[in-house]
Amino acid sequence: MSGDATNERSGRQSEERAQPPAEQARNGARPENMNDGTAAPMLSARDLAVQFTAPGGRVARAVDGVNLDLRPGEILALAGESGCGKTTLARTLLGLERPTAGTVSYGGSALRYSTKALKRYRRAVQLVLQDPTGALNPRHTVYDAVAEGLRIHRVHDNERDRVADALSRAGLRPPEKFFLTYPHELSGGQRQRVVIAGALVLEPQIIIADEPVASLDASVRGEILALIMRLRDELGLAAIVVTHDLGLAWNIADRIAVMYLGRIVEEGPVDRVLTEPRHPYTRALVSVLPNSPVPEPVVLSGEPPDATEVPGGCRFHPRCQVLASGLAEQAGVADACRRTDLPVLSAETRRPPDTAGDPGQSAAGDTGSRVACHYAHATTASPA
Ligand SMILES: Nc1ncnc2c1ncn2[C@@H]1O[C@H](COP(=O)(O)OP(=O)(O)OP(=O)(O)O)[C@@H](O)[C@H]1O
Ligand code: SF4
Ligand SMILES: [Mg+2]
Repeated sequence: MSGDATNERSGRQSEERAQPPAEQARNGARPENMNDGTAAPMLSARDLAVQFTAPGGRVARAVDGVNLDLRPGEILALAGESGCGKTTLARTLLGLERPTAGTVSYGGSALRYSTKALKRYRRAVQLVLQDPTGALNPRHTVYDAVAEGLRIHRVHDNERDRVADALSRAGLRPPEKFFLTYPHELSGGQRQRVVIAGALVLEPQIIIADEPVASLDASVRGEILALIMRLRDELGLAAIVVTHDLGLAWNIADRIAVMYLGRIVEEGPVDRVLTEPRHPYTRALVSVLPNSPVPEPVVLSGEPPDATEVPGGCRFHPRCQVLASGLAEQAGVADACRRTDLPVLSAETRRPPDTAGDPGQSAAGDTGSRVACHYAHATTASPA
């Protein structure tokens, strides 16, 4: 990653973190061990799979074996190109989609799918959608939009104070000024802040944001991202931010999981994964960023991925530049690339298990980054 980008990232983070918290988290101080990888996961996926039956009876393997942990106060970016399964994974983590196989756990307990259990769960884990205009009812005032969650969850005490507090935390100050405003009277950035306030009003532990700034002007994107980071710092909120934009991931996330055709193919600390990408797919994505550490832009060959036709062997092999260039052959893994599926990456983030003899699970020292690639496993050098 570029020096510019590095400076921008560290500059933005230090600026954010230098601000004294407006007040410590409503429910107490920021959780201990935040972000050091030792706290117990709040939200976990284990061997998660979600299939859809597409028109014509074909089965789309939208999520096809995912292990993931989210720890207190952590921001995890979920990245990958269109159709790789990001939204389906996010919806499944939220309990909006039922897994075909595997489990989602919150606080160590498997999610239950009764209406009552899901309602309780959705207070703790809130969704922020990409399009604030679509998420807001044009006939509802800002006050009603933010209060809606409280009413659904029958939280009747101090409604006005709670709404004002949520708006204020979302950066709409003074909050009373916005109470009787309608969505069309607000800017795109302000509308997204209202949507975020609607999530915050229920005092969640986790926010899952699906492309939260994709529909916003570049000028306000940074502000919304800074807001998500501030909420983490002030409230100890954990977040999963779904994005196809690696620059955004770089600016906001602690960790990144890169998805390809329903699976996480590389996962680890964002600095590590984006400055030393190891999976050829991650390298291709990173190669087109400004001042990329990958020397030449990688143009992926082959058909765009189709969840109804997941290739055998490594699912990326029909498009893989390392296989096409002969490097995989030289490393003696070309047959494995074409024939041997790679295991689902583990979710262990602190000290990865000894991966010797486990083709495809290659640990990168103590940093906890992992990659599902025969070539990366067979070589210590990064692929070209
Ligand atoms: N309800 C559905 N019925 C059938 N197929 C679906 C359904 N939802 C998703 N899919 C398929 O699952 C795959 C993953 O879709 P998903 O929307 O999760 O991808 P995504 O990574 O969020 O894409 P994008 O970046 O475009 O939002 C795609 O092939 C999609 O066509
Ligand atoms: S396993 Fe082989 S085909 Fe798959 S990404 Fe690695 S080098 Fe490419
Ligand atoms: Mg999506």
